[in-house]
Amino acid sequence: MNVLFVCLGNICRSPTAEGVLRTLALREQSALIGRVDSVGTADYHIGEPPDPRSVTAAARRGYDISALRARQVSTTDFAAFDLLLAMDDSNLAALASIAPPGAMGHARLFLSFAPDAGVREMPDPYYGGPADFERVLDLCELAAHALLRTPRI
Ligand code: 4NP
Repeated sequence: MNVLFVCLGNICRSPTAEGVLRTLALREQSALIGRVDSVGTADYHIGEPPDPRSVTAAARRGYDISALRARQVSTTDFAAFDLLLAMDDSNLAALASIAPPGAMGHARLFLSFAPDAGVREMPDPYYGGPADFERVLDLCELAAHALLRTPRI
């Protein structure tokens, strides 16, 4: 299963989710996960590395996301990925606005895998502080573990 994480800028939430899922899938030798990638719905940060605050927070937990570079979602992503996991409702709406007919069937909120997380959407840490970046990591780990434990998606 090829998984694409989607946020607004592709410099905070979705690269963090990408790094977490890739690392956990490798560690757990998951046969479920194939390609893992991430994109932004906006073009603000194309070509940029993840936010240094995300890189630092992820590195402290053993996830190296420093080599990732932001790209914007493309209509071809809908065919290339089996699962498009949006961080919030506005990301989902942006996907829906460019999706080919029927292609939203494999798009959903990432935190839908963690119904007990207490939040539906991944909070945007961009205008926040260090605790907000830790919170993103906590939620990414929770939902990534849950995804890896899901027998059929
Ligand atoms: P992300 O966070 O969508 O998690 O990458 C943001 C990154 C950049 C901006 C907003 C959110 N921005 O406004 O530039």
